[in-house]
Amino acid sequence: MNILQVNSSARAAASASTRLANSIVERLRADNPGANLVVRDVGSNPHPVLDEAALGALFTPAEQRTPAQAARVALDDVLIAEIQAADVVVLGVPMYNLGVPAQFKNWIDAIARAKVTFQYTANGVEGLLKGKKVYVALARGGKYRGTDWDAQVPYLKVVLGFLGMTDVSFFYAEGLAMGPEAEQQAFAEAQREIEAAFA
Ligand SMILES: Cc1cc2nc3c(=O)[nH]c(=O)nc-3n(C[C@H](O)[C@H](O)[C@H](O)COP(=O)(O)O)c2cc1C
Repeated sequence: MNILQVNSSARAAASASTRLANSIVERLRADNPGANLVVRDVGSNPHPVLDEAALGALFTPAEQRTPAQAARVALDDVLIAEIQAADVVVLGVPMYNLGVPAQFKNWIDAIARAKVTFQYTANGVEGLLKGKKVYVALARGGKYRGTDWDAQVPYLKVVLGFLGMTDVSFFYAEGLAMGPEAEQQAFAEAQREIEAAFA
């Protein structure tokens, strides 16, 4: 089993989403001792934004790219190869200003490539990253689960589904800014939900 863990918090040691993602990975490894783990941390090792130079590189045929363009495309190729190789994907996703971190979006922009990870057919869009199980570890200062203010979960379901990843489970650490008791409860509840999911 190949596990890909993608962390996207700007924080290293103090990150709640990474802590939760680690917990999911620990559980997966306990059940699959031989599992191979790749950790991609786009918080501490940011991926470049999709700017005009990047688009120019992507839309230039491979054999005509300048060395700089080839190098830019190669950065995305690495992330695409990682997700293609993964059987299980664990995403650590903090809430920043009601959305996903810009670095997480940069990761999505890197892995979404026409004819490689999705394609359009006569029947519409077809995601090509099929057969993967995805776990998402969410961390929020407030509480939004199941409400209209939670724009992250609908977005993640749609964008992951677009790429072919339709088997997605969400774990929530919410209310982390609502005092130490709420924080403790949030982690305990998230941990319970993880244990229940792997029971
Ligand atoms: C820049 C920034 C924006 C944030 N925006 C929100 C927000 O819109 N809603 C919310 O509930 N929490 C918000 N928070 C709180 C974080 O979601 C919370 O601290 C969470 O633990 C961050 O994930 P992390 O611990 O993995 O870094 C924000 C935190 C930061 C640093």
